[in-house]
Amino acid sequence: MKIPCTHLYQCLSLCFIILTCQHGLIEAQRTIDVGALLDFTSPRGRAGRAAIALALEDFYAFNANYSTRLAVHVRDCKQDDISAASAAIDLLKNIRVQAIIGPRTSTQAKFVSDLGNQTHIPIISYSATSPTLSSDHNPFFLRTTVNDSSQVGAITAIVSHFGWHEVVPVYEDSDFGMGMIPYLVDSFQEINTQVPYRSVIHSYATDEQINLELLKLKSMPTRVFIVHMMSDLAARVFSKAFENDMMSAGYIWIITDSVANVIDSIGPLAISSMQGVIGVRPYIESTKKISDFTGSLKYRLRQENPNIDPPEPTVYELWAYDTIWAVAIAVENAQLPNQNEWFSQIGDNSTDLGRLGVSKTGTRLLNVILNTAFDGIAGKFHLVDRQLQSSNFEIVNVIGKSYQQLGFWTPQVGFASTPTFTASSVMKPVIWPGHSTATPKGWQIPTAGKKLRVGVPMKDGFQQFVKIERNKVTNQTIVTGYCIDMFDAVMQSLPYYVPYEYVVLEDVDGPSNLTYTQMVEGVYLRKYDAFVGDTTIIANRSLYVDFTLPYTDTGVQMVVPIRDKRSTSMWIFLKPLADDLWLAIVLLFFYTGFVVWLIEHGSNVEFGGTRRQQLLNISFFSFFTFLGIPKERVLNNLSKFAVINWMLVAWLLEKNYSASLTSMMTVQRLQPTVSDMNELLKNGEFIGYQHQSFVEDLLKSLNFDENKLRSYSSSEQYAEALSKGSANGGVAAIFDEIPFLKLLLSEHCNQYAMVGRIYKTGGFGFVFPKGSPLVPDVSRAILNVTEGDKIVEINRAWFGDEVSCSTQENTFNYERLSFHSFRGVFLITAVLWGLALFISVALFFVKKISANNISTKVSNVEAFPTDKEGDQVASSMEVINCTHEEEVVTIGEPIINVYTESGFPSGRVVFS
Ligand SMILES: *[C@@H]1O[C@H](CO)[C@@H](O)[C@H](O)[C@H]1NC(C)=O
Ligand SMILES: *[C@@H]1O[C@H](CO)[C@@H](O)[C@H](O)[C@H]1NC(C)=O
Ligand SMILES: *[C@@H]1O[C@H](CO)[C@@H](O)[C@H](O)[C@H]1NC(C)=O
Ligand SMILES: *[C@@H]1O[C@H](CO)[C@@H](O)[C@H](O)[C@H]1NC(C)=O
Ligand SMILES: *[C@@H]1O[C@H](CO)[C@@H](O)[C@H](O)[C@H]1NC(C)=O
Ligand SMILES: *[C@@H]1O[C@H](CO)[C@@H](O)[C@H](O)[C@H]1NC(C)=O
Ligand SMILES: *[C@@H]1O[C@H](CO)[C@@H](O)[C@H](O)[C@H]1NC(C)=O
Ligand SMILES: *[C@@H]1O[C@H](CO)[C@@H](O)[C@H](O)[C@H]1NC(C)=O
Repeated sequence: MKIPCTHLYQCLSLCFIILTCQHGLIEAQRTIDVGALLDFTSPRGRAGRAAIALALEDFYAFNANYSTRLAVHVRDCKQDDISAASAAIDLLKNIRVQAIIGPRTSTQAKFVSDLGNQTHIPIISYSATSPTLSSDHNPFFLRTTVNDSSQVGAITAIVSHFGWHEVVPVYEDSDFGMGMIPYLVDSFQEINTQVPYRSVIHSYATDEQINLELLKLKSMPTRVFIVHMMSDLAARVFSKAFENDMMSAGYIWIITDSVANVIDSIGPLAISSMQGVIGVRPYIESTKKISDFTGSLKYRLRQENPNIDPPEPTVYELWAYDTIWAVAIAVENAQLPNQNEWFSQIGDNSTDLGRLGVSKTGTRLLNVILNTAFDGIAGKFHLVDRQLQSSNFEIVNVIGKSYQQLGFWTPQVGFASTPTFTASSVMKPVIWPGHSTATPKGWQIPTAGKKLRVGVPMKDGFQQFVKIERNKVTNQTIVTGYCIDMFDAVMQSLPYYVPYEYVVLEDVDGPSNLTYTQMVEGVYLRKYDAFVGDTTIIANRSLYVDFTLPYTDTGVQMVVPIRDKRSTSMWIFLKPLADDLWLAIVLLFFYTGFVVWLIEHGSNVEFGGTRRQQLLNISFFSFFTFLGIPKERVLNNLSKFAVINWMLVAWLLEKNYSASLTSMMTVQRLQPTVSDMNELLKNGEFIGYQHQSFVEDLLKSLNFDENKLRSYSSSEQYAEALSKGSANGGVAAIFDEIPFLKLLLSEHCNQYAMVGRIYKTGGFGFVFPKGSPLVPDVSRAILNVTEGDKIVEINRAWFGDEVSCSTQENTFNYERLSFHSFRGVFLITAVLWGLALFISVALFFVKKISANNISTKVSNVEAFPTDKEGDQVASSMEVINCTHEEEVVTIGEPIINVYTESGFPSGRVVFS
């Protein structure tokens, strides 16, 4: 204390005053009893005890004029719950304490806090962190520490930062261990991280039990472990993990604050087995106060136990220190009454508990503590929701004898490299277990470091897919094939390296006749770690294993032989045109003749003659015109127009007809012998399928008779069976996966065709055990390969170019030319001719009117007989009766041709 005095006498009198004051205060001082439950046997307990003693000393040295003095009665609560409970009852009953500080663990705190609730005595723990303890139903339990669930955000952020998709919590089987897990799991759910397994280790587990549990973890693919347990158990777990080679590259261990807080004092042995572990803990700013405290505490501990090297103080000792200060301040402020009035007895006095009674003053003390706030050595002391709040976390990485700070985390900012949380969200590079700097991917195929064993099927046929060759000399097995190339390509394009080897199923199982479904089951039974081959993705199989995305065409279809359907019929010449078109053409024939006749017959003698003659003309005119041997000459422009139009239409039809007919008679008309499955069912034909394939089950489910099914194992056998046919010991159709059928077709061009419905299946996929972390990555890699150029190369290498055979598929159905295709032509023709007809009729009437006029004059004209060329053959001629309308057909020139009855011109009339 700095005394503000300038003169000696002033100083002396001040000292006197102070001394008397203090003396007077000592007179008035009241002692307040509080209890403390500590575990004397553990270094943490001893350190806590020293911290409490130190805090009392410091507090009353600093606040000497306080009217109260805390008397802390320390009891050993050992490590078990019963000792803690009985020590608490002892404190309550015999000392009649006003508050209890401790106990250390959450499990012990559970019962003691119930005691506090019943007796209304505040229980203040600085180290019981389980979230289950804080409850509105337990108002007398306070903690001067943060609850475990507050660090869940930081842990989740780390997992999310490194992109791990599966984590396994490893925790203690106690209230403390289990308290945080629900919060952790919920939080992982939000970032879509799976918790495939939880590893529970009993607080008193033997080394053997820990070993077994760790081996179980090792056999699972997940490599991210979150360890939440008390530090002594954690130290054992880590040393066992180290022995089991689980502290090597690829493993990720995250420790919660219960271990991370005490990392400095956990001991050199434990630290050496924890290299690379990441820890999360509340961030406490290091200050001079803390370093002073650290020094004093260590000094004190060394004095108490000269033989033991004092452990480094942890945040718990800081909180213990602050707790004493808080309680000391509170009892001063609470003005507690006389000791004797503290307890009122109510209820049953037949048991110890019943006789404890209820404190009248506990509630007051509790409220004062809750409102106490001061600057403690571990930062601001202020309880919210009856617990300390801390949202700043520090992330540490265990390296060497201690740890290194990686960065900081708060819910508001996320990661930061400095505790000021200015917006730089970086973490320092982590040194992972095994002194690796590469971020582990978080899972591993549980092969204990060995290669992935990939099963491949032994196939008799279709060796383009998988082919196994054995070198007799070196005993080496060489596996090749489309599926193998595909798998190799896919594994190569994975973002990380996965070592694998192919194992032939026969070497695993012995010679056998397994179906593909049974082979796939081998993965489920863990005979091998994956299966690669022509395995189809089907629902039933996916119940046992996980498939990747397919890498081939999908579906099952049938293949049947094709026959040349080129017609040898005598009526083939009719085939190119459909019936309706034929009919239309015939109608057009007559229509053309009729139109031309109608226009011509009045003026053109060639269209004259008897009615029979005219009818024949009508009938054959078009035909002859079409063939280019027109008998009749058309004279009228309109009919010429009609004829030209007809010629065009005829030309068009003829060209199409001849083209169609040519192709019909020369191009092969390949058609499948069967077009649909029901035909096969109806006729009871034999059906082929691939030996060992699931197609057998599919066929049965399609109602095919079991006796009518025949299995084959190569495309040669397929071809042979199909060529024999159902009646001769072969089959009428083969059902199989499209990739196999395509292969068959490419080998036997133009002999077979894929027809009928495609039964949807998943296509070929790679098989992995259920939940294998490889599946999503391999699926992604398959997409990468199938979308790229690589697939083309692989396809060409095994199946050749498909182009050569692919054209025939479309030519099965030949369409005859129908009226429909030509309706435009017919329409135009009909319209044009209608027009011509209309014009000609109109002209006819005009002419008729003129002809009537002429006939009156004709009686006065001179007529000269002429020959066909119009030369006069006689000087005169008797004037014939020119009024007969049939005989006067054309006008327009001053000459009128005169026709005889027979229709031949017999002369002409020249107007004078
Ligand atoms: C103790 O003394 C300080 C000044 O040294 C004073 O501020 C404080 O109120 C006193 N406390 C009590 C309880 O008398
Ligand atoms: C634990 O602490 C966090 C932050 O301090 C708080 O949000 C949460 O409600 C607490 N949980 C319980 C169960 O008290
Ligand atoms: C605490 O005591 C109150 C009544 O005093 C009771 O309602 C509550 O259930 C008790 N809580 C526990 C956890 O026993
Ligand atoms: C219990 O209390 C009753 C009266 O309240 C008293 O008569 C009895 O002696 C007490 N028993 C004990 C064991 O203190
Ligand atoms: C070859 O392999 C077979 C079985 O895989 C084994 O029985 C045999 O001994 C081997 N031969 C050599 C020369 O390794
Ligand atoms: C496998 O089954 C087929 C037909 O089901 C049979 O022909 C063949 O002999 C069997 N092979 C073995 C090794 O059992
Ligand atoms: C799946 O396949 C197994 C064996 O192959 C069979 O026993 C089971 O009935 C099938 N389940 C379904 C749903 O088809
Ligand atoms: C496949 O992955 C590689 C790198 O992993 C990438 O360069 C390439 O573009 C990818 N190809 C496709 C088609 O996505």
